[in-house]
Amino acid sequence: MITGPSIKEYLEQKAVLIEEELAESFPGIWNIPDPLRESMMYSLLAGGKRLRPIMVLATVEALNGSTENALPVACAVEMIHTYSLIHDDLPAMDNDDYRRGKLTNHKVYGEAMAILAGDGLLTHAFYSIVQAYRSYDVPAERIVEIVEDLSRLAGATGMVGGQAADMLGEQGITGLEQLEYIHLHKTSDLIVFSLKAGGHIAGATPKQLEALERFGTQIGLAFQIQDDILDLIGDEEKLGKPVKSDEKQQKVTYPYFVGIDASREKVSQLTEQGKQAILDAKFPNPDRLLQIADFMMKRDH
Ligand code: IPE
Ligand code: IPE
Ligand code: MG
Ligand code: MG
Ligand code: MG
Repeated sequence: MITGPSIKEYLEQKAVLIEEELAESFPGIWNIPDPLRESMMYSLLAGGKRLRPIMVLATVEALNGSTENALPVACAVEMIHTYSLIHDDLPAMDNDDYRRGKLTNHKVYGEAMAILAGDGLLTHAFYSIVQAYRSYDVPAERIVEIVEDLSRLAGATGMVGGQAADMLGEQGITGLEQLEYIHLHKTSDLIVFSLKAGGHIAGATPKQLEALERFGTQIGLAFQIQDDILDLIGDEEKLGKPVKSDEKQQKVTYPYFVGIDASREKVSQLTEQGKQAILDAKFPNPDRLLQIADFMMKRDH
């Protein structure tokens, strides 16, 4: 039974909490070249739904753990996600001019600084995770699990591998199976990481971790299919990024293969399957996780 704020209010409140923490990520006394600092903070604080860090917190809540302890890890996942978007928008990748309602990083700071801002955010994510041990007493063994998961799920076997396959696949994808590989890695893997990281912090059992992985895989796929649908029929103002970017880059997407209606059906089917994994694992307090899955499916931005 849900008590307290609606899911919309919950997401807004958590986003504010995360943004306050992100704003403090690079203390003013640290010696960082000004354009690099500005370029990192420009994208990190540009808005965005903050869904991945919120998933870290919601998973901790699902296990009745302390969400405060999870903030450094929640920020870390947003740093990785933001770096991936800065690089994704570069001329050598999707070549987009707008992101989160603002000019893309390279449009403001130039390509060199945009690449380095991404590098800086990626590296700092690992520093941030360690702070969960230094400042919030999360046991070191749990931090080790989280660092290992992040290296794998965000790296060459995970998100970076998916982005590489996405680039290599432009125009050349022949089947849904190949497309699914891309989606699973470029998008699901970081979502799986977010959920499992929350699980590690709150001491999830192996069975619960497995359920989180299944949930993340399904809702991650659904999330990317919805992103591809919105790229075709979404509202640029609401999205804060250009529509028809996939067409321009000749990406093969889910709607390209099966059409919009079948894609929508797939999003809803994957969401239900994902939620079932959470329900089967009997988390003590799973409501927010389930609501986030529904929100993601129905989103228009
Ligand atoms: C966009 O992610 C990139 C994808 C993996 C589809 P989001 O839709 O979560 O972007 P923000 O963080 O809200 O800007
Ligand atoms: C991006 O996928 C996935 C990552 C950044 C890892 P897209 O290229 O579809 O994301 P958008 O549409 O530009 O946000
Ligand atoms: Mg892309
Ligand atoms: Mg893109
Ligand atoms: Mg897209």
